[in-house]
Amino acid sequence: MGLNSVRLNIIILSLLFYVSSAEIPTTLDGPFKPVTIPLDQSFRGNAVDLPNTDPLLQRKVEGFYPEQISLSLSTNYDSVWVSWITGEFQIGENIDPLDPDTVGSLVQYGEFQKLITEEAWGYSLVYSQLYPFEGLQNYTSGIIHHVRLTGLKPNTLYQYQCGDPYLAAMSGVHYFRTMPVSGPKSYPSRIAVVGDLGLTYNTTSTVNHMTSNHPDLIVLVGDVSYADMYLTNGTGSDCYKCSFPDTPIHETYQPRWDYWGRYMQPLISSVPKMVIEGDHEIELQAENMTFVAYSSRFAFPSEESGSSSTLYYSFNAGGIHFIMLGAYISYNKSGDQYKWLERDLASVDRAVTPWLVATWHPPWYSTYTAHYREAECMRVEMEDLLYNYGVDMVFNGHVDAYERSNRVYNYTLDPCGPVYITIGDGGNTETMAITHADEPGNCPEPSTTPDDFMGGFCAFNFTSGPAAGRFCWDRQPDYSALRETPKVSSGA
Ligand SMILES: *[C@@H]1O[C@H](CO)[C@@H](O)[C@H](O)[C@H]1NC(C)=O
Ligand SMILES: *[C@@H]1O[C@H](CO)[C@@H](O)[C@H](O)[C@H]1NC(C)=O
Ligand SMILES: *[C@@H]1O[C@H](CO)[C@@H](O)[C@H](O)[C@H]1NC(C)=O
Ligand SMILES: *[C@@H]1O[C@H](CO)[C@@H](O)[C@H](O)[C@H]1NC(C)=O
Ligand SMILES: *[C@@H]1O[C@H](CO)[C@@H](O)[C@H](O)[C@H]1NC(C)=O
Ligand SMILES: *[C@@H]1O[C@H](CO)[C@@H](O)[C@H](O)[C@H]1NC(C)=O
Ligand SMILES: *[C@@H]1O[C@H](CO)[C@@H](O)[C@H](O)[C@H]1NC(C)=O
Ligand SMILES: [Fe+2]
Ligand SMILES: [Fe+2]
Repeated sequence: MGLNSVRLNIIILSLLFYVSSAEIPTTLDGPFKPVTIPLDQSFRGNAVDLPNTDPLLQRKVEGFYPEQISLSLSTNYDSVWVSWITGEFQIGENIDPLDPDTVGSLVQYGEFQKLITEEAWGYSLVYSQLYPFEGLQNYTSGIIHHVRLTGLKPNTLYQYQCGDPYLAAMSGVHYFRTMPVSGPKSYPSRIAVVGDLGLTYNTTSTVNHMTSNHPDLIVLVGDVSYADMYLTNGTGSDCYKCSFPDTPIHETYQPRWDYWGRYMQPLISSVPKMVIEGDHEIELQAENMTFVAYSSRFAFPSEESGSSSTLYYSFNAGGIHFIMLGAYISYNKSGDQYKWLERDLASVDRAVTPWLVATWHPPWYSTYTAHYREAECMRVEMEDLLYNYGVDMVFNGHVDAYERSNRVYNYTLDPCGPVYITIGDGGNTETMAITHADEPGNCPEPSTTPDDFMGGFCAFNFTSGPAAGRFCWDRQPDYSALRETPKVSSGA
């Protein structure tokens, strides 16, 4: 189907793509000839993190009053998750985790301009980030609350307050609009999709662009707070491994997550955000635990979508079925994720959700040198399944640049393959991707391309097409429709 049957407004850095019939041809007019927009060197400023002392990052509430309030969707319009944090985090030695049972998790809600008559209770938890190494500091979070509202009407403005009424600690009133019903003519009018956000001055321009464009939904395709660019003592760096080559474990400064939650509250307490994990969410800690902050801080409709993991799930937004896949957990055919994906795809009714959109963090089809063919084992394992079920579009992050593919399957132009869009530079401090693997001297040595955490090596040389026998093309590949290093943000 053509891109013109839905208006998906994709926030890409400062660039807004209004995908509507009047402005942009549909993919039915493609495949398009490859275009490269060269980098405007004047945009190569360093992205600088908001400092830990920035007023926007400070705790402004007292006692057990809610902060870091945010929303996530459940699987359908009739249910929404509300999340928030009460109490202060602790960091240092001899930290003593708060007892989550000491503060209740209640949301009172109702339709806008009517009485607040509904109530929903949820659950609460704390998590810790522990480093059993001399000189490193441990962290334990405030109390994180997640409450699921049910029985909501479609496309309806609601008001809500969250907190614990018995502690006289209810939040002010916030508002959100539910998704429209799922159907072939029913869509949210604007969806912001952004990756690799971080918390820099350039992130603030991305977030301001999102806010001023009034999205109905925000999809974050991984790499969120970049708390892992810091040591546990709060010292950060644009390049962790350059500045701190000798740390006993890859450290994090978990308060950056709290800062991110505070900074984002004005937007995501009224616009639902759906997050899928990136490599910066791995955050290895004691006992080899990973993804603990990510899994604890956000609410995911995992259970509602039949998934047993926070690392992959699905949901509907009007006539779009979103599939959120985990690249940093087993994706092989005998693993749980693959089996869940098979079941999920089989249950999609395209008469109800004609659009099938998938997201995960590291792209399969990117022509930049950075992370070139890094997720190839995942592609080899899962591409057929997505293709066979007719996935329309894929969004990825990770590569700090913009790229849009032609419809492609197994590296071959195919009118039934998805369009892949990389939007991996929401403002974080990492190096932006500039060079392309098809430029002379820029093709990486194949053995250097796999990601340690993903494992495996599947990026064998092409056996057919213009790059047969080689690892890289010698010109912009025909599957790459448009690539552009971002104008907003980024460290060099
Ligand atoms: C942090 O927690 C680990 C695991 O419990 C412990 O071994 C370590 O001593 C703690 N560090 C500090 C500074 O308290
Ligand atoms: C944090 O630790 C690093 C490495 O040991 C050190 O260079 C830096 O000065 C420390 N920062 C603070 C705020 O103590
Ligand atoms: C953590 O993983 C490492 C490397 O895989 C392994 O050697 C170690 O035994 C594991 N530790 C625990 C506590 O599971
Ligand atoms: C697939 O993943 C499962 C679960 O993680 C693992 O036990 C199995 O060894 C993997 N199989 C292959 C072929 O990698
Ligand atoms: C994908 O392409 C490769 C190389 O041309 C080929 O070996 C492989 O069989 C193809 N896979 C499928 C599923 O068609
Ligand atoms: C793969 O291609 C690269 C050049 O892109 C070449 O150096 C290498 O020898 C090739 N490997 C094989 C096994 O053909
Ligand atoms: C990114 O933010 C810095 C301020 O930290 C600013 O100087 C620079 O112009 C911004 N970059 C872009 C491309 O907006
Ligand atoms: Fe990443
Ligand atoms: Fe990133």
